[in-house]
Amino acid sequence: MNNAIDIEHLLTTSDPTAIDELFAEACRVRDKVYGRRVFMRGLIEITNHCKNNCRYCGIRYDVRTQRYRLTKEQIMDCCRTGNELGFRTFVLQGGEDGWFTDEVVCDIVKSIKSEFPDSAVTLSLGERGRESFARLREAGADRYLLRHETADATHYAFLHPAEMRFEHRMQCLRDLRDLGYQVGAGFMVGSPGQTIETLKKDLLFIDEFRPEMVGIGPFIPAAGTPFENERAGSVELTLRLLAIIRIIHPHVLLPATTALGTLHPTGRERAVMAGANVVMPNLSPQDTRALYSIYNNKLSTGSEAAESAADIRLRMKAIGMEVPDDRGDYVN
Ligand code: 5AD
Repeated sequence: MNNAIDIEHLLTTSDPTAIDELFAEACRVRDKVYGRRVFMRGLIEITNHCKNNCRYCGIRYDVRTQRYRLTKEQIMDCCRTGNELGFRTFVLQGGEDGWFTDEVVCDIVKSIKSEFPDSAVTLSLGERGRESFARLREAGADRYLLRHETADATHYAFLHPAEMRFEHRMQCLRDLRDLGYQVGAGFMVGSPGQTIETLKKDLLFIDEFRPEMVGIGPFIPAAGTPFENERAGSVELTLRLLAIIRIIHPHVLLPATTALGTLHPTGRERAVMAGANVVMPNLSPQDTRALYSIYNNKLSTGSEAAESAADIRLRMKAIGMEVPDDRGDYVN
């Protein structure tokens, strides 16, 4: 890893000058690779059904909540709206829902790629088999987001039920890479059981695997989960980690996540000022947004797609960033 930076010091110091310098350096590193540009991704939350029982997640199987699935037509309509608004990446995200078989997802991916040939399709549908990932890739999917959640096997076992295996998750990431996807990993900051030691493992994993994207955001307790009374993660620590990740992996695509915007009114702006370069406004239909409640008080649950997109563009321009209508691919 980049030996010039003392990670433990940066994660724990209360010296404001050291932190300002960290953020400034992260921005210089980002600007050298990507310029002062922030890429937009349109997030479409296609299902809140999930077979898993991740202890932190507000749509885990055991939570009694209203469940929904978008139809193919609804998904295509979200993409049409997004395309008009300048989006050139569509992220289909959902719980692990058996209804979305390879056949169903391939059909949707092919339709999106044929109607919007200039756009990238990103999938974020949890763990699947290598064959399944291969079929989806064949159908045209460009990218896949699967946060590793923690690079420490014991911590992983604390956050997840016994059926979910750390080794399998890591295998999925390697398979996705092999199959030619741009791969997104990532983790929550301040999840129960996380320590400086587990965070160092996360950074080491990122340094070694070098995922094209890294999604990190603060843990936020979710009603109805075993962790509902735990404390939320720290915005400050999340910002420091974003900056460190930018410095150790200059080319990474790094989103300013909704979770940061939820905990702090200008959390996403601060993330960009700490080295982030991606924002993911929500394109899901207005009436299903509140149901995709992976944590409490999730941002913009009531607003329209156009409103979220316009809002985020303004926020980014206000801090001196351009927001191109561009796929925003990883730069090698
Ligand atoms: N707080 C913050 N992030 C969460 N996620 C799931 N539940 C929570 C929560 N309570 C994150 C996980 C998952 C991503 C889609 O959302 O890291 O991979």
